[in-house]
Amino acid sequence: MTAINLEKTKKNVKSLAREVGSYQLEKLDQKLKVSQKSTYLDLVSEVDKKAEEKIVNWIESNFPEHSILAEESGTSDKESKYKWVIDPLDGTTNYVHGFPIFSISIALMENETPVLGVIFIPYLKEMYTAVNNKGAYLNGKPLKISKKSDLKESLLVTGFPYNLTEDEYNNINIFSTLLLKARGIRRIGSAAYDLACVAAGKLDAFWELKLSPWDVKAGIVIIKEAGGKVIETDYHGHYLIVAGPAELTDKLYEEIRKVHN
Ligand code: IPD
Ligand code: CA
Ligand code: CA
Repeated sequence: MTAINLEKTKKNVKSLAREVGSYQLEKLDQKLKVSQKSTYLDLVSEVDKKAEEKIVNWIESNFPEHSILAEESGTSDKESKYKWVIDPLDGTTNYVHGFPIFSISIALMENETPVLGVIFIPYLKEMYTAVNNKGAYLNGKPLKISKKSDLKESLLVTGFPYNLTEDEYNNINIFSTLLLKARGIRRIGSAAYDLACVAAGKLDAFWELKLSPWDVKAGIVIIKEAGGKVIETDYHGHYLIVAGPAELTDKLYEEIRKVHN
């Protein structure tokens, strides 16, 4: 298999994300077909599905030999070292309520490491991108992670899983503990956008439990390329991600560890 020109691919993925974003903005505020997935809180709309179809079609015509992991349609395994990981609409709850903060998250993995990440927020026209070892950018301007190292001075961001009532690892205890230790905590409703904001230093650090690869893979390469640290670990049997500047990320993880033991 020939090596990929990541910079050229990034340019093409940016155009694809812009096109999908225009479609999503067109459909925003229109009456949508919405159905439930895992729980009554977990929704999917016709726009999630159509947006994913557009992205998958693009990948299949440009890189037919690559594997794909897409939120709504699952896995297409081609036994390739390259895999695309896609969330076609991150922030579906916001979207179906007409709250316009949602994103498109597209990552390319090489041997399980994200090497290209694109997160686009159509309503804000913000395009966050990174290629491994080539830096992270917002609309072409270099990104830099926050310089904060103290929780008391930090504005954090998080989210909550859809199976809130299923077990105690629903982030509520962690959230209430950290609310008393940080300057503030935001819950925006799109994990990919949360990670992008942390990469840009607009928010200082992020954590969340039980996310899926399509929520985080693009954000991970963008955060790392902006100079940040990402901890991905098992937390009482659940996936936990913590991200931000290195010292703050370590302190945040330490606090999260103390909440459930
Ligand atoms: C959700 C969003 C949200 C996070 C949830 C995710 P979706 O993704 O990223 O911020 O808190 O855990 O599942 O369902 O809108 O693609
Ligand atoms: Ca998502
Ligand atoms: Ca989604």
